[in-house]
Amino acid sequence: MAARLKITGMVDPHVHLRGMDWAHKGDFYTETCAAVAGGYWAVFDMPNTPPHTLNRAALDTKLEAINQQAVCDWGLYFCAGANRNWDEYPVIFDAVCGLKMFNNDTTGHLLVEDDAIRRTHYAHWPPDKIFANHAEDETCAAIVEIVRQHRKPTHILHVSTAREVDIIRRAKADGLPVTCGVCPHHLWLTERDVAALGVLAWMKPVLKTQADQDALWAALADGTVDIVESDHAPHTLAEKQSDNPPYGVPGLETTLPLLLTAVHDGRLSLERAVALVSDNPRRIYKLKTPSDTYTLVALDAAYNIKGADLQTHVKWSPFEGMTVRGRVIETWIRGRKVYEDGRVLVEAGYGENLYA
Ligand code: DOR
Ligand code: ZN
Repeated sequence: MAARLKITGMVDPHVHLRGMDWAHKGDFYTETCAAVAGGYWAVFDMPNTPPHTLNRAALDTKLEAINQQAVCDWGLYFCAGANRNWDEYPVIFDAVCGLKMFNNDTTGHLLVEDDAIRRTHYAHWPPDKIFANHAEDETCAAIVEIVRQHRKPTHILHVSTAREVDIIRRAKADGLPVTCGVCPHHLWLTERDVAALGVLAWMKPVLKTQADQDALWAALADGTVDIVESDHAPHTLAEKQSDNPPYGVPGLETTLPLLLTAVHDGRLSLERAVALVSDNPRRIYKLKTPSDTYTLVALDAAYNIKGADLQTHVKWSPFEGMTVRGRVIETWIRGRKVYEDGRVLVEAGYGENLYA
């Protein structure tokens, strides 16, 4: 009997599911199908898909669409805007998983650069839900200084450099309420892969050096990193191959197999791998896991990643051709088998808002 692993309620708190004005890139049905194929119970969607989640009306538009389409459970982030939209917080707070602030420029152009505006968002955001930040290098240091003053639970997304790891390690040693995530593409690819992969290796934060990647692996092992998050950000191949290629790569279906491959190769303990995709995100986002919500994995099953086999609408992967070990066999949510062997078994709309 091949070795089977059962993982309780996996959560990816950093995805871009598209839908609405960007439904040509994927929608809440196709991309949550990718989530359950990747083994996930729940995914938390970022606010940069137009109409941007900057006010209650835009949040309602998104809530309506995702409610009808999602096959896994979910949460939505509200967006901290340069337009000083903190007056919206009282009317959106109960419906969202947290707040997202873009402190470096990326897809959607929702950049908040002004330190006074960043601080005012922190002052207004209630402390019971996560304040998530895109904050690279010196911007990461700037956000940690704000947390030193405001002490609100803060998650630093997609850490990609040795310097960011140092900043976060020190913030944690100082007792600040800071957690962080890293993405598989920063763990498995470096700037040297851009020559072969071209725009398929373009994402924000961009791929970094081998020394940076080594620092990420050390931080995974020593517990500085809390979560491995996919930053699943599908764009069509045609868009990627256009004259103006957008940043972002799909990742929901490759994150767990890659991590289990690292376990197989002795680069990571199985306990750490499970903590990074399950225990830690559930703890940090204060989730109660419903009964019979888990993923079954065939630990020894080896296969080649092929974009054409993926559920994601865009059907490509920056990890094309890579051999991984560890295949998702079944995903169960609230007592229903939602995914088995390449097939999604529940209807659109089965997924629930974990923050309703
Ligand atoms: O590569 C990225 N793509 N990074 C982001 O921060 C946004 C994302 C997207 O939405 O395409
Ligand atoms: Zn992202």
